Order: sequence, then C-alpha cells, then structure tokens
Amino acid sequence: MKTEFKTWVIAVDGYSSTGKSTVAKLIAARLGLTYIDTGAMYRVVTLEALRRGLIVEGQVDRAGLQSCLKDIRIGFKYNTALERYETYLNGEYVEDQIRGMEVSEQVSVIAAIDFVRIFLVEQQRAMGRKESVIMDGRDIGSVVFPDADVKFFMTASEKIRAERRYRELIEKGETVSFEEVEANIRKRDYIDSHRAVSPLKQPEDAIVVDNSNMTVEEEIEFMLRKIEEIRQKSTEN
Ligand code: DC
Repeated sequence: MKTEFKTWVIAVDGYSSTGKSTVAKLIAARLGLTYIDTGAMYRVVTLEALRRGLIVEGQVDRAGLQSCLKDIRIGFKYNTALERYETYLNGEYVEDQIRGMEVSEQVSVIAAIDFVRIFLVEQQRAMGRKESVIMDGRDIGSVVFPDADVKFFMTASEKIRAERRYRELIEKGETVSFEEVEANIRKRDYIDSHRAVSPLKQPEDAIVVDNSNMTVEEEIEFMLRKIEEIRQKSTEN
C-alpha cells in the first residue's frame, strides 16, 4: 500500500558511491514519489562543457561555461522497459555518457563552480515544489531544501565504496583499474567536502545511514521505518 503524502521532500545526501541512487529509486517506487538524481544534473553540465572544449587539463573556461548554461536543458524520462530514469541533454539520450570515467573525472570541478550550482539548485527547487520527491545529492538537506521533511545522510567505508563502483564500471565494459576508481572516489570526496560553495557536510538533523555492512533490503527497511515515524509524527501535530 502506498503512503499518502502532502508535497513531501525526502533528501538523500552523502559521499560518492554510497548507493544513494539505488536506495532513493527503490524508496521512490515503494512510496510513489518522483526520484530526482541531482548528481546527473552536474554530470550533464560537465558533459556539455567537455563537448565544447571548455575543460582543458582540469582548468575550466568559466566565461564560456557561463554563457552556454542557457542552452542546456536537462530532462529525466522513466524507461518502463528497463524500469529506470534516464537523463537527457536537449532531448538527446546521455545516460551512458554521463556515467563514464571522462565525466566522473571532471564533474567535481564543475560542481564546485558557484554559478553552475545556482543554475541547477533553482531547477531542483522548482521540481520539489511541484510534487513529492526523493532527491539525492550532496547539498539537498543543507542548501536546496533545508526544510526537507526527511533527511538522510549516507556513508560507507572508502574501500567498500570503491569496490562497488569498480564492479559497476567493469559490468558496463569500461577498462579501469581498481586503483584508478579508488583514487577517483578519494579525490571527489576531497573536492566535494572542501569546496567553498555548498560543501558536502552532514546536516545536524539528518539520519545517518552507514551501509558498509548492510544489505540494500536492510537499508530500505530502515529508511522506510524512519520515514513512516516522521510521517506519523507530522500527522499528529
Ligand atoms: O552523485 P554523483 O556521483 O553522480 O555526483 C556527481 C558529482 O556532482 C559529485 O562530484 C558531487 C557533485 N554533486 C554536488 O555537488 N551536488 C549535488 N547535489 C549532487 C552532486
């Protein structure tokens, strides 16, 4: 049975490769909420910047990027056959390209740029105001929706996260070494947590989920229980 929500926002933040999107998608399906992958939005902007040659040796042509933002339209469509949300850039399917190593290598640099964040946060807020959503990212509970109804903060040991990500990339046919993946995760964590604008940090009122030793099912059960507790409390008030 699906739970009835007024417009609700559930924020799922945390480190790279903690399985945020896996659990957020499953919870969205269980509760009938719309799932929004905000990391995909930063990835789309990165892909466009790479295509336009605006990132050279890690250096971004900021003026060039700023002027091209107005031409970027990000879309999500649910693929019923594959049962997943897929990402589009100006109507073009880019789901596979935004998950590759080339985009992953550069995305933290793009996500640290203030005007990129302003551009995307505005769109995220508009999506959350329209309907009930579960949104995953790094700053959803801290910046995008500080008043989110439920805030989760996901974490897991670095080694476990690297193993998960490595398996995912190998299954997709990418040629990468475990060491490369581990180094990428470490570098992204560092940049995400140390950037000047909206750094990744655990909101004080977030529910921490350390899934190093949890199965996905255990995690989902735990999170659904927490959501239900908060929902019941909110209806009592
Ligand atoms: O969740 P992900 O790995 O797809 O995110 C890609 C990058 O975007 C990652 O380096 C962190 C950044 N990001 C962010 O800064 N804020 C968000 N709300 C989502 C992602």
